[in-house]
Amino acid sequence: MSHPDRLTELMRPGTLSLPALPPLSLYVHLPWCLRKCPYCDFNSHEWRAEAGGSASLPVETARAYLAALRADLEAALPLIWGRPVVSIFIGGGTPSLFAPEQIAELLSDIRARLPLEPGCEITLEANPGTFEKDRFRGFREAGVTRLSIGVQSFDDAKLKRLGRVHDGAQSLAAVAEAAEVFETFNIDLMYALPDQTLAELDQDLSQALAFSPPHLSVYHLTIEPNTRFAVEPPPVPDADLASDMLDLITERSGSQGLRRYEVSAYARDGHRCAHNLNYWQFGDYLGIGAGAHSKLSFPHRVLRQVRWREPAAYQREAMAGKAVSNEHEVKRSELPFEFMLNALRLKDGVGLQQYLERTGLPPSSIARAMAAGREKGLLLADPARVCATPRGFDFLSDLQELFLSA
Ligand SMILES: C[S@@+](CC[C@H](N)C(=O)[O-])C[C@H]1O[C@@H](n2cnc3c(N)ncnc32)[C@H](O)[C@@H]1O
Ligand code: SF4
Repeated sequence: MSHPDRLTELMRPGTLSLPALPPLSLYVHLPWCLRKCPYCDFNSHEWRAEAGGSASLPVETARAYLAALRADLEAALPLIWGRPVVSIFIGGGTPSLFAPEQIAELLSDIRARLPLEPGCEITLEANPGTFEKDRFRGFREAGVTRLSIGVQSFDDAKLKRLGRVHDGAQSLAAVAEAAEVFETFNIDLMYALPDQTLAELDQDLSQALAFSPPHLSVYHLTIEPNTRFAVEPPPVPDADLASDMLDLITERSGSQGLRRYEVSAYARDGHRCAHNLNYWQFGDYLGIGAGAHSKLSFPHRVLRQVRWREPAAYQREAMAGKAVSNEHEVKRSELPFEFMLNALRLKDGVGLQQYLERTGLPPSSIARAMAAGREKGLLLADPARVCATPRGFDFLSDLQELFLSA
């Protein structure tokens, strides 16, 4: 279908009525890693095989991928005409395998095609062990404003069990460099690691908190289907120990001024991640790159898209203007649950007004579920907010499921 026809179709009347379009973010997926970690189900691919074992991401690989991203973005522009971008997230994979000059080229390609809001947050994911000295400085000079470092642990033995390419010393060096170069940065840690004790987690937290990070993301290690850990599951802490671990994380972060504002995210005032907040508040995002997901609103519908997952297929299709492999309109009946799946992850929830604006549905669409949530003590009684009680936050899936048949 040609672009004008496609747009006419997306703009046609429908049963939803969105009074305004939400803020728009941009996600860029860079799909390569040095080695596939045994717990990882992200769309990440070892580049060694493709590159015949050379020592860094080959220039031609990066160049061809950047060209595909440009073509992908060009083809997507009609869907977001005139809308400014409030945040950019360059994720992976291991985006720090790209050289600073390549990230600079990517950002100037984006700037040439999209208006960025002043102060637009631009995050890049970086892995320890994939950089030489001064690489982070190069990313900042390229326009990156926030670095997210995938540390996972500072413990050599744990990093080995996780199949990471870096050791504890490299984790420390990466965070030290980020803290020196960036005004705001994030450390990703995981907990409930194979055979992890509370004391070992405490040690990881001490090492992370010693850097006074503005933002900390701490994820419960999940054994995902289709990963090596699913085939040979390692012994991980039981539910009771994992729950004690979460209490320890929240308490230790809180005592250092990092408030838990989302299930897995802790931040100092003024350092919450604008990009992820937009996801959780059911904002819009255009995702470009292999396997990237998009959610885009129109006055009478919400569209979801996925791009080709395999890097080679993605590049071929994107160059032909066909980067999208699948798309569908979110059904009216699915919107309450989709909204709550995100919004209820936020400690402070969201205003009811935001629900109305972003789903285009009337209050009656969730009245029954709201009443049930309050009755069970899972939702706050505040009529202007949708917000989990502490109990609701502990039993989040039970609470979210109330909105399945809302
Ligand atoms: C998009 S991933 C990859 C970032 C970066 N490539 C890295 O691995 O450091 C972002 C974060 O998700 C978390 N993560 C990945 N797989 C996970 C799993 N199976 N369970 C829990 N957290 C996971 C890790 O903390 C990781 O840093
Ligand atoms: S480095 Fe990150 S994205 Fe790559 S395989 Fe490991 S966890 Fe997945």
